[in-house]
Amino acid sequence: MWLNIKSFEEYNQIYNQSETDRLKFWEHEAGTFYWRKSWDNVHSGGFEKGDIKWFEGGKLNITENALDRHLNTIGNKTAFIFEPNHPDSFRRTITYRQLYDDVCRFSNVLQEKGIQKGDRVCIYMAMTPELIISALACARIGAVHSIVFAGFSAQSLAERIQDCDAKMLITNDGLRRGDKHVPLKDISDEALKSCPTVKNVIVCQRTNRDIDWVEGRDEWWHMLIRNASKVHKAVEMDAEDPLFILYTSGSTGKPKGVLHTCGGYMVYTSYTFRNVFQVSEEDVYWCTADAGWITGHSYIIYGPLFNGATGVIFEGVPNYPDAGRFWEVVEKYRITHFYTAPTAIRALMSYDIKYVQKYDLSSLKVLGTVGEPINEEAWHWYNDHIGGGRCPIVDTWWQTETGGIMISPLAGITPTKPGFATLPLPGIFPVLMDENGKEIQGNGVSGNLCLKYPWPGIARTVWGDHERYLKTYMTSYKGYYFTGDGCRRDPEGYYRITGRVDDVLNVSGHRLGTAEIENAINEHPNIVESAVVGYPHDIKGQGIYAFMICENDPNDPVAFKKEIHNLVTKIIGPIAKPDLIQIAPGLPKTRSGKIMRRILRKVAAKEAEDMGDVSTLLDPAVVEEIKGGKAY
Ligand code: PRX
Repeated sequence: MWLNIKSFEEYNQIYNQSETDRLKFWEHEAGTFYWRKSWDNVHSGGFEKGDIKWFEGGKLNITENALDRHLNTIGNKTAFIFEPNHPDSFRRTITYRQLYDDVCRFSNVLQEKGIQKGDRVCIYMAMTPELIISALACARIGAVHSIVFAGFSAQSLAERIQDCDAKMLITNDGLRRGDKHVPLKDISDEALKSCPTVKNVIVCQRTNRDIDWVEGRDEWWHMLIRNASKVHKAVEMDAEDPLFILYTSGSTGKPKGVLHTCGGYMVYTSYTFRNVFQVSEEDVYWCTADAGWITGHSYIIYGPLFNGATGVIFEGVPNYPDAGRFWEVVEKYRITHFYTAPTAIRALMSYDIKYVQKYDLSSLKVLGTVGEPINEEAWHWYNDHIGGGRCPIVDTWWQTETGGIMISPLAGITPTKPGFATLPLPGIFPVLMDENGKEIQGNGVSGNLCLKYPWPGIARTVWGDHERYLKTYMTSYKGYYFTGDGCRRDPEGYYRITGRVDDVLNVSGHRLGTAEIENAINEHPNIVESAVVGYPHDIKGQGIYAFMICENDPNDPVAFKKEIHNLVTKIIGPIAKPDLIQIAPGLPKTRSGKIMRRILRKVAAKEAEDMGDVSTLLDPAVVEEIKGGKAY
């Protein structure tokens, strides 16, 4: 029997059970899947050594649970509705049977190209069904997919390919996002100049623009798939074999390749999807994320497919052709479950309400948010204008590393509170830590958010750098997983995530490291040093504020900002462009040479009156100069 919580009473009861016997709880959940062979050991390892394992010895292929298992029961049900960037372009629906056939064909293609179990395949594509087919085909043959968001630059793509030594790249000729064209194949060609491990490139046609072609390396998707057989036997995997790598930013250094494995990730995404969203058979679920982020992996691809749900693949953006785009799609497909990011809600709130009122949103039953804290104003707008006051909002807190949702209301079950992710899912045990590394007991308290016990969906390592995995998550608080987030537990025991406590920014729900952006800025010949901080931004949640020391003061700061933008776009991608830059005579440094970012954050947030103690600075005068400076 699938664990399907139906009342708040039941939630409390199951939560308590999961605490009494964690392993039995997860074993019960895992037992609902199709395993070729059951596991030898439910769980071993822990945070101390970072050697976490779940369902070891269990043999499976995750796509048999996402696809094969459904063929006899819901083969003709729609798995995905594809909604293209422009509402007048070709749209289509794909049944579970068709998706299965396509995944089998493409699995055969990949194997014919020599891709084997354990090989890494990079996917850099538009949000189309072929992206999802590519990922599932990798999983079916045991290759490790690494999806790179198709907004990253050639250099970022190259770094990700190099880090995991990918053997193949799957891309499109190009894509359209809103009114912009992104030449994916040109960007890929540029990246591949420094990626000798990539022997094959498969190009899926999307824009039909002219592209360069490397004979012997590049092949068209449609040519390869044409004669491929739709009979394919999935490769047997161990529960702990790698499923995918997804790069995400940390507080230092380059983005890290977070690795998830087959069994635990499967169990966890399926369990969380079913219980958080409470999707029933005839519902139409739409998560607006891009598959290039973890939300797309867990709640567009895997979680919904395990549960036989009907989902939407949306290629577009919220404000193209106009600000009614989301609501037009909701009306068109009678969407019942709608899951998006607070930044999109805030952006759409700023337009005339007529864009909402034009459409019939009566099909909606459940609303969700993810990726960043939601402010109360946005929560109420979402609740009143989109949900008509009758749809529960699930504010889902989780991370790339957690694999799936950790703290969230269960739709229609957990009483909600604006701005609160509310309560942990059964099987999840959050704790708040004080400065001395001790658990803070009781309610009405704040601290750093940690997790006390491993859960099946936790990332197993950082690709190629297990030390970094241990250092980032398991060293700050011995014996716990540290999330990097600050959190408040209110008098009722409800959790409110207050944001990152490290040097990670959350810009429009996208995770960026300050060090990454600084490194890009520092490539400019006129930059001596830079320091990037976040500041409150009405729509993006956090904006990027860059302080920079220049060799020669630029006489036209606006033109200089453009140069910095171009550089950051080239090195990382447009999402990392600073919103504001300030040329500074120096940076506030301690005697040991560390930048005191707290001061810069205050200046950026326009809270510079109250600077706190600056006596440890090498040159306190620099603070006054920065306070008096101008941002562009
Ligand atoms: O700071 C938290 C924030 O997003 C971070 C994780 O980012 P990423 O790995 O890119 O995953 C985003 C999608 C799961 C967290 O450390 N965050 C995520 N969800 C919420 C949130 N902050 C507040 N409320 C949330 N619901």
